[in-house]
Amino acid sequence: MATSMVIGTQWGDEGKGKIVDYLAEQADVVVRSQGGNNAGHTVVVDDRAFALRLLPSGILYDNKTNIIGTGVVIDPKVLLDEIENLEREGKSAQSLQISNRAHVIMPYHNLLDEAEENSKGDLKIGTTKNGIGPCYADKVNRVGIRICDLMDEEVFKAKLDYNVRIKNKILREVYGSTEAVDYFQILKDYTEYAERLRPYVTDTNYNVVTAIKDGQKVLFEGAQATMLDLDHGTYPFVTSSHPIAGGASVGAGVGPNYLKNIIGVVKAYATRVGEGPFPSELTDETGDYLRNTGHEFGTVTGRPRRCGWLDLAVVSYAADLNSLDYLAITRLDILDKLPEVKICVGYTKNGETVKGFPADLHELEQCEPVYETLPGWETDTSAIRNYEDLPEAARRYVERISEVTGVRLGIVSVGPNRSQTIVLHDVFAE
Ligand code: GDP
Ligand code: IMO
Ligand code: MG
Repeated sequence: MATSMVIGTQWGDEGKGKIVDYLAEQADVVVRSQGGNNAGHTVVVDDRAFALRLLPSGILYDNKTNIIGTGVVIDPKVLLDEIENLEREGKSAQSLQISNRAHVIMPYHNLLDEAEENSKGDLKIGTTKNGIGPCYADKVNRVGIRICDLMDEEVFKAKLDYNVRIKNKILREVYGSTEAVDYFQILKDYTEYAERLRPYVTDTNYNVVTAIKDGQKVLFEGAQATMLDLDHGTYPFVTSSHPIAGGASVGAGVGPNYLKNIIGVVKAYATRVGEGPFPSELTDETGDYLRNTGHEFGTVTGRPRRCGWLDLAVVSYAADLNSLDYLAITRLDILDKLPEVKICVGYTKNGETVKGFPADLHELEQCEPVYETLPGWETDTSAIRNYEDLPEAARRYVERISEVTGVRLGIVSVGPNRSQTIVLHDVFAE
């Protein structure tokens, strides 16, 4: 089966966009299956950086089909702006398909995201404020508006009317907000968006499965990451979708047996943006060094990312949750100048090894990371293209990651460009 999947193993921003863009060269179809414009996937082509949020990272090629699947939540304005920006850069979104079943982010979702965050005090999640959580909540509550509803004016008007009345009441009476949404303004704006999006809208569930059955190479692009998974991440400091491999089956509308060659993207150190536990976080000058050397500032919100040593308790958990076939280790080059590097290989609590990943955040706080210190390589790796040419200490570092997690190495990335990619396995060949 010629499918492959790229999944974040940490807290996001591992470099999924770069790996998807690299693998997309061999693919016929690239599919996003969850998340929304909370994602920021930077793809660098010929030294030009493209920050993609809703568009799949295969969009920069001319000859691929790019699909926004059913499990994605779509802010039509953001998507249309993204398409326009792409066209301004001389690229085309003609290959785009949008699921008629995907849910639509409405202006009241953004207001609710903001109001909920502001009311939470210490429980604030640090969301991207793009209305992601409230949109998924409406979907689960069965009051959401889908793309196919947006395409049908009468259905849209009825669902919009219901939602505007309820959401304004919630905003005013629950959150004491002075902001409200206007039915007629939304109707006008969204009717225009609907007409502009209509050419792209189709039954993507059918198209993805048909492409797989026809032997086309289909690449699934994860957004967010395992530790942000709604069920399995550090709840409540998570996103509202399922960024794990099983989520792609639900979100793209394909059975799990179709999903092969699952690649976990591992940043060579750890970052997290927003609130929530981060056991290997470094609040000292090494943390500052990683943030400054790695330019670790959010693509979507510009917020400084929290930085720390690589946490293999997290990556091992991700290996099991996603049944990873390969690791793609990114940003190895950011560690090039360090005289030594540390890896957290697990946690102990009260002197005992912790098995699995703690659900209770208080328990997680009591966990002590167990570090191994490995020699640094103090060599510029950014121009290296063959695995054997990496300094021995760099190979030892990535091999230790593979050893602890029990997942074989597929790719090692030493820079943002397509060419800065060391391939150990051709994933589409198997
Ligand atoms: P994503 O959300 O997982 O796609 O990751 P982001 O795009 O938010 O953040 C990853 C950043 O690292 C982007 O700016 C990429 O261009 C960049 N990047 C990806 N791989 C590498 C690498 O191996 N080395 C370096 N230096 N940068 C990389
Ligand atoms: P990519 O695909 C990093 C984080 C937010 C916040 C939490 C919930 O670029 O890796 P949300 O707006 O989803 O309700 O916010 O999740 N978050 C991300 N962090 N990378 C992402 O996406 C993220 N998407 C959401 O910062 O902590
Ligand atoms: Mg990102």
